[in-house]
Amino acid sequence: MDKLIINGGKRLEGTISVSGSKNATLPIAVAAAILADGASAIHNVPNLKDVDTLSAVLEVLGATTKFKNSTLYIEPSQRIAYEAPYDLVRKMRASIYVLGPLVARLGIAKVSFPGGCAIGPRPIDLHLKGLASLGAKIQIEGGYIIAHADRLVGAEMYLRGRHGSSVGATANVMMAATLAEGTTIIRGAACEPEVADLANFLNAMGADIEGIGTPTLKIHGVRQLRGVDYTVIADRIEAGTFMVAGAMTKGDVFVKNAVPQHLEAVSEKLVEVGVQLDWADDGVRVTTPRPLQAVDVPTATYPSFPTDMQAQMMGLLSITPGISIITESIFADRFMHASELNRMRADIRIEENRAVVRGVPKLSGAPVMASDLRAGAVLVLAGMAAAGETVVSRVYHIDRGYECIEKKLVGIGADIVRVND
Ligand code: UD1
Repeated sequence: MDKLIINGGKRLEGTISVSGSKNATLPIAVAAAILADGASAIHNVPNLKDVDTLSAVLEVLGATTKFKNSTLYIEPSQRIAYEAPYDLVRKMRASIYVLGPLVARLGIAKVSFPGGCAIGPRPIDLHLKGLASLGAKIQIEGGYIIAHADRLVGAEMYLRGRHGSSVGATANVMMAATLAEGTTIIRGAACEPEVADLANFLNAMGADIEGIGTPTLKIHGVRQLRGVDYTVIADRIEAGTFMVAGAMTKGDVFVKNAVPQHLEAVSEKLVEVGVQLDWADDGVRVTTPRPLQAVDVPTATYPSFPTDMQAQMMGLLSITPGISIITESIFADRFMHASELNRMRADIRIEENRAVVRGVPKLSGAPVMASDLRAGAVLVLAGMAAAGETVVSRVYHIDRGYECIEKKLVGIGADIVRVND
């Protein structure tokens, strides 16, 4: 298993490029493999473990996939299989995305029920509710979700849950509704840019979706979708992570390809902390000319502050004078990184879904362990800002979502070495 050895205290300086969005790529690849007739070429795809794992799921369903130079080529099968087995789904929760498309296309789907993960329970009731509204008959048997329908029929539904709208449920149901008979209206739809990117991709394939990027999606069903060439949006979470890296190392970093509209809440918080952001046409320059100050950060659905940036923000606040409060309202247990940061001499206390972060002058390097993707990312940021050596283990979590993280960071002055033991 790989480890990252980080020699901290280096100031980051230079240009770092953001890759394509992981969370947009995953449903787009599913739509290309299951809903389309004909091949698609998806450009700006990040070279990530999660993309490999999803490709393996799509191959099991009969599609042919090839990844070359940031393009994922997908050739759907004439005879799509309808079962996504436990062994693959357990490796990646996003495999649940095949459920709606399979039942829409084949009239049947059998998908292993995904479990929880390191950031807490991950229910799929909203996915099932939405598909049931379209007329799918759903049973749970032997750990599998089995869904049947002769042809899905458009319906009006409300998809918000206890924690707000759901990215996954919106994407799943929207994909299914593209091939349903008649019109579907999803109220309480997720507005995240990745959902909008999927909708734009579906429209490019011949779907008819209105209200993209808003909480009300209107989907007029069509008979057929075709394969297309498409370029995925930049990864706003990778961009946000690099912005925080610049701030935490008191650097001068240009984050290339960062999209301002996708990063409004993150930018606003960084500016409130005292970070200077200068936006240009192709990215943002991050500097810290002023002293930083504590802030409160509540996470919520888009366009509010994303839960996927909560860990990284905690890293920055852990070395920002004053007391900051982070309230996690999407995944209440998503605080595994706090105790690892405390091993590096941060001062963070967790009270239910809140983290009370008392800024310390300096973090101190230590051996730490990544428990999930973003929790892993903040340990790399903390390691770069800390005095001395930090060794991050379980790097495979980070590799799920960051393309060559250490290579990119070394390119702007970090001292990070990957070792395999
Ligand atoms: C996606 C992202 C993940 C991000 C999350 C929230 C992908 C592959 N993953 O995950 O990185 O952290 O959005 O922005 O895109 N919920 C229910 N019932 C459901 C579905 C969700 O109660 O059927 C709850 C969840 O437990 C959570 C909230 O709704 O509290 C939001 O989850 P959701 O938006 O669905 O997250 P994912 O799509 O799984």
